[in-house]
Amino acid sequence: MDHKEGAYKVHDLGLAEEGRLLMEWAETRMPVLKSLRDKYAESQPFKGYKITGCLHVTKETGVLVETFAACGAEVAWSGCNPLSTNDAVAAALAEAGIEIYAWYGQNTEDFYWSIDRTIDKVPDLTLDDGADLIFRVHSNFPEMADAIIGGSEETTTGVHRLRAMADDGKLLYPVYAVNDAETKWDFDNVYGTGQSTLDGILRASSVLLAGKNFVVAGYGHCGRGVAMRAKGMGANVIVTEVKPTAALKATLEGMRVMTMEEAARVGDIFVTATGMRDIIRGQHFLSMREGALVCNTGHYDVELNLAELAEVSVSNRMVRADNREYTMENGKKINILADGRLVNLAAAEGHPSEVMDMSFANQFMAHLTLVQRKESGETLPNTVIDLPVELDQEIAGIKLETMGLSIDRLTEEQVIYATDYSAGT
Ligand code: ADE
Repeated sequence: MDHKEGAYKVHDLGLAEEGRLLMEWAETRMPVLKSLRDKYAESQPFKGYKITGCLHVTKETGVLVETFAACGAEVAWSGCNPLSTNDAVAAALAEAGIEIYAWYGQNTEDFYWSIDRTIDKVPDLTLDDGADLIFRVHSNFPEMADAIIGGSEETTTGVHRLRAMADDGKLLYPVYAVNDAETKWDFDNVYGTGQSTLDGILRASSVLLAGKNFVVAGYGHCGRGVAMRAKGMGANVIVTEVKPTAALKATLEGMRVMTMEEAARVGDIFVTATGMRDIIRGQHFLSMREGALVCNTGHYDVELNLAELAEVSVSNRMVRADNREYTMENGKKINILADGRLVNLAAAEGHPSEVMDMSFANQFMAHLTLVQRKESGETLPNTVIDLPVELDQEIAGIKLETMGLSIDRLTEEQVIYATDYSAGT
């Protein structure tokens, strides 16, 4: 393919062909997003608008970026995690003329340099996964916010941060909470995280899961997805929690609940999925069994306290890709996967295309809604906004249709019955 000139910085443009094949593979499994592309490509609703995104550069993200571009948008992109960029996909996007600054293994300076390049020309819309782009705009370039119509946020952690900011009156433009759409959190967070986390653990270790004590910290949607899948593979799942209702739910779903102090002594594999810092600390690491595998699938690399691990260990070495073995001061060895960064993206390919299809259909619709509302003269408040609930049913309906599944419809009598409060025994 001819390289179309555009601003970019990627690892190696020579990987573009490989990246193109990956994106083609993903696209065949993303029929909902494809249907949106087909629906809007002709009317070009994003023509004249620049969308800047900061989200994992995966094959699925490549399909989203090209869908925006096919519907008229000028797009600039950076990755939202130093270890999640697929260099081949980044090359394919650069090759196709997308403005992109992303490569695997960025340091902090590269990371913010890349974000800054994507906003050298002020965007009309921002798209985040973890809110780093929005924070960058708010903290370093607040004057830009006046020109920004709105944004969207992909993940639980990001939505929490933005809601806190909005509560403080500090959010300078409206943001759609894509994470909070049912067709996002109830699928991506559960089945996406569940499968991709196990995928990352297996790629980085190839261990047998059956019969292992598998500790999941956090029983939110992501932790529950991981626990369900580990249980399905024959592991003995242990859950640690701070929230009584979540711990109760885990118990009633057949998981063992205990504190991390107890779990640290018996676990073979540990996964953190809490969104909170310091879930596994120095003393926990020290009490682990020989050969314990420890990883994180939360958005930020704060859940494993690696500074404390450094204090209680004497040396470390890479023993295979994404797998670092630490020798502890008590002589035992434990393994940290992906250096505590999200294991599903750093050691595997992130969530499967089939779930990202619905997450990214929500992203597309969030941005389309922002543009349509702006064009109809509507002013949105500077808060975190939910997508309309009807959209969930629409997206789920298309998904079912593309899976060849039909569902029932209520009869007229049933519709009346549903709203008739006088009907009783
Ligand atoms: N987050 C988790 N999995 C992902 C994927 N495949 N693409 C983009 N973002 C993701």
